[in-house]
Amino acid sequence: MPPTARLLLCPPTYFEVGYVINPWMAGNLGQARPSRARAQWDALCELLAPHASLETIEPVAGLPDMPFTANAGLVHRDRFVPSRFRHAERRGEEARFIAWFAAQGFDVRPLPDGLAFEGAGDALFDRACDRLWFGHGHRTDPAAAEAVQALIGVETVPLRLVDPRYYHLDTCLCPLAGGWLLYYPAAFDAGSRAAIEARVPADRRLAVEEADAQAFACNAITLGRRVIVNRAGDRLCEALAAAGFATIQTPLDEFIKAGGSAKCLTLRLDEPPVD
Ligand code: ARG
Repeated sequence: MPPTARLLLCPPTYFEVGYVINPWMAGNLGQARPSRARAQWDALCELLAPHASLETIEPVAGLPDMPFTANAGLVHRDRFVPSRFRHAERRGEEARFIAWFAAQGFDVRPLPDGLAFEGAGDALFDRACDRLWFGHGHRTDPAAAEAVQALIGVETVPLRLVDPRYYHLDTCLCPLAGGWLLYYPAAFDAGSRAAIEARVPADRRLAVEEADAQAFACNAITLGRRVIVNRAGDRLCEALAAAGFATIQTPLDEFIKAGGSAKCLTLRLDEPPVD
């Protein structure tokens, strides 16, 4: 059977750490190695290709973070809610992504003016029910949760992010098939941890340790029962295996210099997904 999952990626032709808008980028200005980044990105694509159809958007010189397509916006069925970046450095990407989605026939639904929203970086669909986990506190405005809910008609669960290293929800939380949830509890305030615990039973929650969180283990691409990440420790791999998931690791350290990893480099185009 041909793969049904569709992912949008952007080749890292112009990828670099050229400014600092998150703590990972500090100290890494000019440090990303282009050929190594390209090799890591190619290896990721090779891993994904048998399981998903890969689509690409043309990279643009001067927009070094464009390979992080998770931040293009939020896809729901045929709708696309474009991002409004918090930082001026990334705002040039907005028109590029809108044009791509419009050309593909998506119904582009912008948010009301003045709301910051960073797309699937901060908005993740549950894999087991009609629910959108919604991160705010660093990049996305809390008021965007209601606005997104009104645009796509899916209940949003706002979660407040409190650790600047985990500035997007997809750096510290990943919904998995069957209602499992991979997350790093310390990235959330107490109320948000309680909101998660009220909705996901304890035996479905996989809390990752700090070392895994720092290695971007929550920034996972999930394709059915496959969990594709930069790195995950043995204990986490065992916990995932016990829950029925295969962990696939592929080094993405060049992109971590910019504060992103596997999941950030992709945007699911078939949402909500069937597998
Ligand atoms: N340098 C980028 C930024 O700070 C990294 C984005 C990572 N994307 C993500 N979905 N977490 O915006």
